[in-house]
Amino acid sequence: MATLFIQTLLTLLLLLLTPGWGSAAAAAGGGGSGERKALLRFKAAVASDPGGLLRGWSPASPDHCVWPGVSCGGSGEVVALNVSSSPGRRLAGGLSPAVAALRGLRVLALPSHAFSGQLPAAIWSLRRLLVLDLSGNRLQGEIPATLACAGLQTLDLSYNQLNGSVPASLGALSGLRRLSLASNRLGGAIPDELGGAGCRSLQYLDLSGNLLVGGIPRSLGNCSKLEALLLSSNLLDDIIPPEIGRLRNLRALDVSRNSLSGSVPAELGGCVELSALAGFRSSSFVLGTDLTSYHSFSQNNFTGAMTSLPLAVDKLGMQGSYAFLADGNNIAGQLQPDLFSKCNSSRGYVVDISNNLITGGIPVEIGSLCGSLVVLGVAGFEGELAGTSTKGYG
Ligand SMILES: *[C@@H]1O[C@H](CO)[C@@H](O)[C@H](O)[C@H]1NC(C)=O
Ligand SMILES: *[C@@H]1O[C@H](CO)[C@@H](O)[C@H](O)[C@H]1NC(C)=O
Ligand SMILES: *[C@@H]1O[C@H](CO)[C@@H](O)[C@H](O)[C@H]1NC(C)=O
Ligand SMILES: *[C@@H]1O[C@H](CO)[C@@H](O)[C@H](O)[C@H]1NC(C)=O
Ligand SMILES: *[C@@H]1O[C@H](CO)[C@@H](O)[C@H](O)[C@H]1NC(C)=O
Repeated sequence: MATLFIQTLLTLLLLLLTPGWGSAAAAAGGGGSGERKALLRFKAAVASDPGGLLRGWSPASPDHCVWPGVSCGGSGEVVALNVSSSPGRRLAGGLSPAVAALRGLRVLALPSHAFSGQLPAAIWSLRRLLVLDLSGNRLQGEIPATLACAGLQTLDLSYNQLNGSVPASLGALSGLRRLSLASNRLGGAIPDELGGAGCRSLQYLDLSGNLLVGGIPRSLGNCSKLEALLLSSNLLDDIIPPEIGRLRNLRALDVSRNSLSGSVPAELGGCVELSALAGFRSSSFVLGTDLTSYHSFSQNNFTGAMTSLPLAVDKLGMQGSYAFLADGNNIAGQLQPDLFSKCNSSRGYVVDISNNLITGGIPVEIGSLCGSLVVLGVAGFEGELAGTSTKGYG
């Protein structure tokens, strides 16, 4: 009797010590019970799950690879943790460092939930990670100076509460296509290294809504695939470096709400590449027009006269619409009809140069010259306005 009892105990102990006990996935190899435990610890740190998104994550359910939001690779290791949210169905609570035990993770995507507290530093040690999207949570902490996740293609931590600085090491991630750290509390300068050898894949860079100081690095002119450079609402000063004009694929440039000075560069985005500008937010601008391309210099300290708009007409063609926003600067002089000479080359044309030091009124011809003019913002003109047929706003 006693022997049988001890044998049973030993068998139980062995079972408990065997990796993968209780996990069907473990039979296929991979992380097995360690990964299952890590997922359950992730769930345990979630304080609130009103949509029942993790309801299926039950210790009673034998295969964690079928849990909603979990994907496993061929050898049974968890490769993606991707839990979508929707209004009223957001996870809240802490983000458990246990996710870093999922060593095979390629995708960690938990956008627009309500995770709060520290962004676990251990996440940066996930070497296989390709997509890290924790945007729209309430995470705090800093992005460390050294990153092991060298293969990252998408890093989106926008709309959180991160502080510290933008680490230079991000410039070494040579596969990075999309980097968004918008709307955090990041300070310091934009590191020159961001435009280093690593930026050759970079298509989308959004650092708007932070506390960044200093100039726009000239080196960003090296990022030849860049389509969107969004730096609005920071504390940037100095001029716009001419190297930005080398970015032939740039379709969206937003440097509004900074303290930039000098004159608005005459030719930016030497070529305006065209295709749908899906997903690009157009700063504070909401119009019935889909913008194909826009340049926003609003609310800075730009000076000088406006002689032409930084638009490459040949590429814009009739397919697209274009917005040039430069309201709230110190741009002076008179408006020349030439300024609008390119306006027929787009489907919709938005120009906002209100609240500057422009004198002399609006050339009467504009209304007839410019069939595509959708909006012309000219509030705050110094001096008298000539009678026009343009549609003003603001
Ligand atoms: C995450 O899942 C959603 C919905 O299933 C999908 O649309 C999205 O592409 C996935 N994200 C990643 C990075 O795989
Ligand atoms: C970041 O915020 C934390 C508090 O959340 C603070 O302790 C830390 O000093 C801040 N770091 C920087 C660089 O401001
Ligand atoms: C990037 O641009 C800067 C300044 O424009 C230049 O000095 C540097 O050599 C370039 N770096 C690479 C890796 O091309
Ligand atoms: C704008 O430029 C003027 C003249 O150079 C300077 O006195 C002023 O402080 C600047 N303002 C900002 C907000 O940078
Ligand atoms: C734009 O088109 C209108 C009507 O089609 C024409 O009258 C006007 O001269 C054109 N403007 C320019 C600048 O070519």
